[in-house]
Amino acid sequence: MPDVPTVTLNNGVEIPQLGFGVFQIAPADTVRCVTLALQAGYRHIDTAEMYGNEREVGEAVARSGLDRSDVFITSKLDNGAHAYDDALRAFDGTLAALGVEQIDLFLIHWPLATVSDFVPTWRALERVYEEGRARAIGVSNFHQHHLERLFGETETVPAVNQIEAHPYLVQAELRAFDAAHGIATEAWSPIARGKVLDDPVVADVARRVGRTPAQVVLRWHLQLGNIVFPKSATPERIAENFALWDFELGDDDMKAISDLDRGERTGADPDTFA
Ligand SMILES: NC(=O)c1ccc[n+]([C@@H]2O[C@H](COP(=O)([O-])OP(=O)(O)OC[C@H]3O[C@@H](n4cnc5c(N)ncnc54)[C@H](OP(=O)(O)O)[C@@H]3O)[C@@H](O)[C@H]2O)c1
Repeated sequence: MPDVPTVTLNNGVEIPQLGFGVFQIAPADTVRCVTLALQAGYRHIDTAEMYGNEREVGEAVARSGLDRSDVFITSKLDNGAHAYDDALRAFDGTLAALGVEQIDLFLIHWPLATVSDFVPTWRALERVYEEGRARAIGVSNFHQHHLERLFGETETVPAVNQIEAHPYLVQAELRAFDAAHGIATEAWSPIARGKVLDDPVVADVARRVGRTPAQVVLRWHLQLGNIVFPKSATPERIAENFALWDFELGDDDMKAISDLDRGERTGADPDTFA
């Protein structure tokens, strides 16, 4: 089984660059899907309290026979828990649901800047990090101005910023800003929930390199340096999305895919999502 490359976060923690996302996998189906992913070689699972399947992710990891330290687990704070004490309680709930003593990465899921204040929320995450209960902490769906506020008012630079990114939303500026501040960019909805797979440019590259459109798009992310965790509940696709290690895209193909950028979101805009 190929070793997935890791990205070294700003505190030295290593995260596998390719993982498995479990958004919209029903709790009753999560053990099956995560088990398939672990069998295929994935060692990084991305969940969230809001997905309602942390317990089943923990169960699949526990049943796999793998050492806990061999599987990188990320979860995210529920949007209703931004107040400092609520965030601490929600974090305890996440550890209990996953059945672990320590999580690898814990994120603020959305900034929600129009309805609450994420600075005290971040202080709660700093606390669980200092206590050693999260190996790394980060944010999700933060724009540059949200990050600048954290830099100005708190001590810890997030280890990651998990943002929507794919060929129709390349996020070059925010990725560069993250990189300039030592923040690793994670790309959610890396294949835009399937929307980019029929694109003629992607299809053409896929034909020429003899790979599927999904593999080409995931490979494009990896070569850009993004951390990705495609979701699939389909066994063949779970395997397909992991088979990315024996081909490379040339500069022209990388550019052709990046040129598809049209600033198009499949999900909410962090500035208006509440
Ligand atoms: N931080 C956030 O706010 C946020 C938001 C959204 C997502 N995320 C994270 O990012 C992960 C991935 O994003 P996502 O689930 O929204 O979208 P995605 O991974 O871009 O796409 C998933 C969709 O594509 C299909 N698919 C997967 N592999 C395929 C392949 N090889 N060929 C054709 N279709 C394929 C899946 O179908 P089947 O399942 O039917 O195979 C599913 O409908 C999530 O699971 C979650 O962990 C985070």
